[in-house]
Amino acid sequence: MLQNKKLIVANWKLNPLTAEEAEALASKIDLSTEKEVVLCPPNLFLTKVQYPNLGGQNCSEYIKGPYTGEISAAQLASLGAKYCIVGHSERRKMGETDTSINTKIIALLNYGIKPILCVGFGTSVADDELSVMKIVGEQLEQDLQGVDPGQVIVAYEPVWAIGTGRSATPDHAEQIALYISTKHHITKVLYGGSVNGKNAHNFLKQNHIAGLLVGGASLLADDFNTIIAS
Ligand code: PGA
Repeated sequence: MLQNKKLIVANWKLNPLTAEEAEALASKIDLSTEKEVVLCPPNLFLTKVQYPNLGGQNCSEYIKGPYTGEISAAQLASLGAKYCIVGHSERRKMGETDTSINTKIIALLNYGIKPILCVGFGTSVADDELSVMKIVGEQLEQDLQGVDPGQVIVAYEPVWAIGTGRSATPDHAEQIALYISTKHHITKVLYGGSVNGKNAHNFLKQNHIAGLLVGGASLLADDFNTIIAS
């Protein structure tokens, strides 16, 4: 596969607590890198964080109207978000459905935001690759209905690896990334789940892993800078 610039996405989740801390963290992240680096702070800090590439962590299915507490793709675009994570396991656990993920992806694309679709919810550490492909394949089919797959980035994040300190093996991640890219025509497949400064390189050297989605380690500037430099 042709190797483009690797993409490293920081998912800060519900951190940090204040806008000042968010600004301070962003200011410590290296700017001089050959990789495409995207910071996804909590949506409401998007205007506080200074960084070339910003992304949202979620968006509403709706664009405008009587939907209290929602943030739409149009609003994210107006705050400068170029990317947005969708379908993260932590949201699927809260009840987000594939139908709603599909609607969100279409909304994001309509506003020129690149969706980063997470798949891998519902997998378990004991699953073999075939079982994982079945689960991930079903998610992709439903989430990408009516969507040009070439417009979407997919992050394979086995749910059991998220925030546990137990990442998948690079070989397993590569096999699933190969499946996602060839069978589902996705040009950029990321791996996420307990990525850190020590293991990032082993994932990035795989042929079909186009980058990383990083949670916990993205809150530690030194560790995240090591990942960016890997
Ligand atoms: P983690 O999270 O790096 O802390 O495992 C990854 C993610 O949830 O995107």
